[in-house]
Amino acid sequence: MLILRSKFMKPYRLLYSIILFVLVTTACTKDEPIWWKETVFYQIYMPSFQDSDGNGYSDFDGMTSRLDYLDSLGVKGIWLTPFYSSPKVDNGYDIANFYQVDSTYGTLDDFKTFINIAHSKGIKVIVDMVVNHTSTQCEWFQESRKSVDNPYRNYYIWRSEPNNWESFFGGSAWEFDSITNQYYYHQFDKTMPDLNWANPALIEEIQNVLRFWLDLGVDGFRLDVINFLTTDGVTLDNPTINGEQKHIYDINQPGIKDALRLIKATINEYDNRFVVGEIGSDELKVLHQYQSPELMDVVFNFNFGSIPEFSVQRIFNELLNMEDSLSNYPTLFFGSHDMPRLINRLANEDTSLAKALAALIITAKGVPFIYYGEEIGMQNIEAKTFDEIVDIQAKTQYKIALNKGFAPADALAEANKHNRDRSRSPMQWNSKKNAGFTTGKPWIRLHYNYVENNVESLKNIEGSIFNTYKNLIALRNKEKTLQYGQYEKLRLKENRFYLTRTHKDERISVIINFSDAIKVDIPKSAEIFMGDSILLSNDFLIFKH
Ligand code: GLC
Repeated sequence: MLILRSKFMKPYRLLYSIILFVLVTTACTKDEPIWWKETVFYQIYMPSFQDSDGNGYSDFDGMTSRLDYLDSLGVKGIWLTPFYSSPKVDNGYDIANFYQVDSTYGTLDDFKTFINIAHSKGIKVIVDMVVNHTSTQCEWFQESRKSVDNPYRNYYIWRSEPNNWESFFGGSAWEFDSITNQYYYHQFDKTMPDLNWANPALIEEIQNVLRFWLDLGVDGFRLDVINFLTTDGVTLDNPTINGEQKHIYDINQPGIKDALRLIKATINEYDNRFVVGEIGSDELKVLHQYQSPELMDVVFNFNFGSIPEFSVQRIFNELLNMEDSLSNYPTLFFGSHDMPRLINRLANEDTSLAKALAALIITAKGVPFIYYGEEIGMQNIEAKTFDEIVDIQAKTQYKIALNKGFAPADALAEANKHNRDRSRSPMQWNSKKNAGFTTGKPWIRLHYNYVENNVESLKNIEGSIFNTYKNLIALRNKEKTLQYGQYEKLRLKENRFYLTRTHKDERISVIINFSDAIKVDIPKSAEIFMGDSILLSNDFLIFKH
């Protein structure tokens, strides 16, 4: 049969190849718009945006009332962190029921209203989906732990003997369960057991979850720690180097790409959806492997986004490396719920530097993601006592430090190094009680600077960080060259970024001055969008020519 096929198929194969080539090249030259390349995304950290019922947590009704704000800011895409039923040990990344909205955030109808109104304003909504693990409160796990022959047993990973794999929050990744006298595997908290991606029944279950939300009209997913899926089971012990475990065998397992292909194929059953993968790595060569049309549309570029401190050279190198090695667009961001606020981490609390960094992520080639509050320069909060800490990762680190013999004050300092609460404080809307976020007691404390630093006051100040973000986003929304343009130039000279992007017969140049003041010669025929020829330190200039 095989021989026959190859003998007789050859001429057809050639014809097929020609047709395919023509189809692909015409599709490429047709310049079809791709909505996510045109979109500036805005990440809403679910508990912290806008409360409507006074329970101290944000909710869909509150968020719906703020869609006009997001619309006026110009964002065309929202990423919602998990809002599914959850005990919120990890603020929703521990899902108890994939088909329900957590009651603190409202109801499924409130979610539908939110998404419908967002759509009516031309704003797409992508939702976080956590398929690496669930909460121990998930019914699947409740069943799984009951007995070794329960139909749900193999939804999770159980062993009589644990290996040396460690949790990413600290400590062993195994927890003993006395009901069946076995250990279950958890890469994160012990209340977040890992799903078993070697089990076809589990995979089908997850496909149904995806379809449920796609049917409700979500425009795509942000897939949580998606390269951590345990597709190949528990294999070798991880090596320990300088006292620290290297996560070699527990992530990026060989079967992962097959799993991702299946996830993407399921999403592709629906038109025009978008997938951004959270690949837990800051190495471009790892990130690179996962970005392709059949795996992830884009991945979060932590090589760029999670740079620990400001370095113009480093930022430039990463941008250049992404240009050289990524097959599609990189993502451009400097903030998220897992890292300290941009303005503290990279800008030394200097608003002018934060604005310059905003200019970079909004004008460079890639998909920009803004973390809520970044547009008003929101700053880190700091826990003064252990009781103030909500973040499970910081709590775990505190306990580990105490066990190692640290004094409580030192354990707190250790925990604060890992404390993700820092960037999770409530959105600062105005100078009224609780910054207009809630009439009740906020789930986490506000930053004390909200009295001056809030949307209401910054929107009336010309040149404020808020108005700078707004103008930059408006420009990106208007200019196709900033959405689709390729680099004609990408250069760093004396701590100044020079980038030129071209699209069709248009050209836009951007100069960002991370150095001393300079005078720039702007071509006479240029149309200046922002800035002027005298660039003080941290100023930027954008013009079309
Ligand atoms: C991702 C989330 C993080 C969460 C972890 C476990 O990294 O961004 O907040 O704790 O996954 O789900």
